[in-house]
Amino acid sequence: MRKKIVAGNWKMNNTLDEAVYLVEEIISKVKQSEVVKIIIPPFPFLESLNRKVGEVVSFHLGAQNCSSLPHGAYTGEVSAKMLHSVGCQYVLVGHSERRAYFNETNEDLVLKLREALAHQLKPIFCIGESLDQREGGFYFEVIKSQMAEVLSHFSASEFINIIIAYEPIWAIGTGLTATTQQAQEMHQYIRTEVASIFSEEIAQQTSILYGGSCNAKNAHDLFACKDVDGGLIGGASLNADDFCAITASF
Ligand code: 13P
Repeated sequence: MRKKIVAGNWKMNNTLDEAVYLVEEIISKVKQSEVVKIIIPPFPFLESLNRKVGEVVSFHLGAQNCSSLPHGAYTGEVSAKMLHSVGCQYVLVGHSERRAYFNETNEDLVLKLREALAHQLKPIFCIGESLDQREGGFYFEVIKSQMAEVLSHFSASEFINIIIAYEPIWAIGTGLTATTQQAQEMHQYIRTEVASIFSEEIAQQTSILYGGSCNAKNAHDLFACKDVDGGLIGGASLNADDFCAITASF
């Protein structure tokens, strides 16, 4: 059985007080379950939130990014080792906002994944096509190359620690969610690609999350899809009631 996972990517939102309040509210309202719940706040809040999240069963902490470099004179960078030292267990790698606004390339992502894995962080590797690519009808090719150019650098024993998040760019922050049919079709395709890069057995164990305007209203239908193992949630993760409802949508 694959793990069910709901991760909340807070992006660049909240102050420390607001972050602590939100996490306390989530912890007090959430229904106990085996669903893995990951809180992914901005860097400055990680240590404080680890004190809250670290004590609660099935809650974990993640970071939104890590450096492709191990350490040294790289002003403004945050290493995977630092993230592990403040209690992170997960890290997003290759979010479309980082690819688009911070010019992250597939080569950067290979290095970031290596750093994360070297420091016991489980990467959530994000892939997804743009609206033009979707409308042009070549979205499978886009996903195939995003996977092949990065994942082929890893062995099966490394890959089993990686979670995949399919986030169609046209659905992020737009209120336009992929239909259950579009989500299932792409998740099934991603699983087939994992099988061809690694093996069918590994593909069956890989958690593939959906992200892009996933909310308390549509999560249940999306999570009911055979190959959707949970969600990577942006906007709706900033509201405790919504985030808790999504974690209970399996
Ligand atoms: P929204 O849920 O706000 O569309 O964001 C999705 C996302 O980018 C999560 O990483």
